[in-house]
Amino acid sequence: MLCLGQGRSAEWLGCLRPSPYPGRVNGMAAEAKALQLVLFGATGDLAARLIVPALFNLYLDALLPERFTLVATGRGQRDAATLAHQYHADVARFSRRGKPPAKEWAGFAQCLRYVQMGPADKAGLEPLVRCLAAQDEQWRTRSERVYYLATPPEAFEPVARALDEAGLAHDRKGARIVVEKPLGRDLASSRDINRVLAHGFEERQIYRIDHFLGKETVQNILAMRFANPIFEPIWDRRYIDHVVITVAETLGVGHRAGYYEQAGALRDMVQNHLLQLLCLVAMEPPVAYAADDIRDKKLEVLRAVRPFPRDRMHEYAVRGQYDGGWIEGREERAYRAEPKVDRQSRTETYCALKLFVDNWRWQGVPFYLRTGKRLPVKCSEISVRFRDVPHRAFDPSLGLNAEPTRVVIQIQPAEGIVVRFTAKEPGAIFRLRPVNMRFSYGEVFQKPSPDAYETLLWDIMHNDATLFMRADQVEAAWGLLEPVLVAWADHEDPGFPNYAAGSWGPEAAELLVARDGHSWLTPIMMHPANPC
Ligand code: BG6
Repeated sequence: MLCLGQGRSAEWLGCLRPSPYPGRVNGMAAEAKALQLVLFGATGDLAARLIVPALFNLYLDALLPERFTLVATGRGQRDAATLAHQYHADVARFSRRGKPPAKEWAGFAQCLRYVQMGPADKAGLEPLVRCLAAQDEQWRTRSERVYYLATPPEAFEPVARALDEAGLAHDRKGARIVVEKPLGRDLASSRDINRVLAHGFEERQIYRIDHFLGKETVQNILAMRFANPIFEPIWDRRYIDHVVITVAETLGVGHRAGYYEQAGALRDMVQNHLLQLLCLVAMEPPVAYAADDIRDKKLEVLRAVRPFPRDRMHEYAVRGQYDGGWIEGREERAYRAEPKVDRQSRTETYCALKLFVDNWRWQGVPFYLRTGKRLPVKCSEISVRFRDVPHRAFDPSLGLNAEPTRVVIQIQPAEGIVVRFTAKEPGAIFRLRPVNMRFSYGEVFQKPSPDAYETLLWDIMHNDATLFMRADQVEAAWGLLEPVLVAWADHEDPGFPNYAAGSWGPEAAELLVARDGHSWLTPIMMHPANPC
């Protein structure tokens, strides 16, 4: 049997059901459209951890299209019921909502099909073509199609080509292809991937995922900057002294050494997530909140970044690798002692960069970016540090009046915005102290944010590419980092390991900012245990 559904009847209409949960779009009914999402790599880690739990949450929120199927594909022999059973366990383990309610799960499982396929070529895809066509016939419509390549990048080329040859890419409005990082390991390989995808699909059909862009707090950067009149007038070199972007993780490499050994922090985190954050903070206002308007503005930022000076790379780029150490009372081993990691590995698990955006708005303002594994806390935030007052009227003896104002955009785990400024302490004696004024998502909205993949899948299904990377953007980001990659590859001995697990990274990273008279701004954590 080629197309194995569960409990389908001739009258079956799909997955629409009233939602018992607050949806992402309040009160919005699912659209009466038909969509089939084809999942390549359906039994892989990405499907289990992120894609299927996100789809199920969309189902619970009644945000899947009215007529929807999830068509899992694979080479192995299995049926939809077995796969549904496995996905149930995955959702219970990885979904933000935990174990699925039985009735709802049964409804979702009805959307699941399994197609056993041959090799990734035209003939191999025939069972899929028949399965999709059979569903369309039953629905009496031509459904939209999303081909999600949750596969290693080696599969992009054969699968994209096979989809094209099988005629599955030709519906320019209805067919989309989704790919995930790593989108190359340098400029040349990213161009190859883009070329392969462009062979059968037009750019508007290609969705390149950077999951950071799906995070609520990341999307809110544009809302904060462009939906309020108070930030934009001071958002430039006249008022801002420097910007620090920190993405710190306590996790180590875990079970991903196979991938990570070839990637390292620069490719894994900076090329995509951190540069995306930089673009959102530094971009000019778009004319409209529309995919290409926004992506054009982001691209302008990447194009304006000053090239790294090859002869003084150490002043602009620092790499590190964690040694053993302690985090939250737990002893952690060194990166080189992790399973499947080369005992002499030169892969960086930390990097810090200094960048300048050479345009009218940002001339001379340093942007410091840092990310690392096995740092003391999990925390992603953007700290915008304003210039000092031009004249200090208050005597230094009045308190900490030297601490400059900063706006901190908290991405995770705390989600919010903090304005840190100086205030007078209550009392007859005039004393100054830094205080925080804060907006917390949790407190204001009183509901959990959706996972990034829920947002991204919803957008893909609605043909909205705003939160996805365009080919030119990906290539610009690789092009920008190319000199660092080359310099690091040429320089044989990075002196690893050079920071202890549980520390804030190598000493050279402190120097990187200290040379400019700055320091890494301590993240402002907004945990209840650590109130502002
Ligand atoms: C991924 C990286 O893209 O992002 C991982 O490959 C990293 O190495 C992860 O741990 C961090 O994402 P998040 O959403 O957990 O901050």
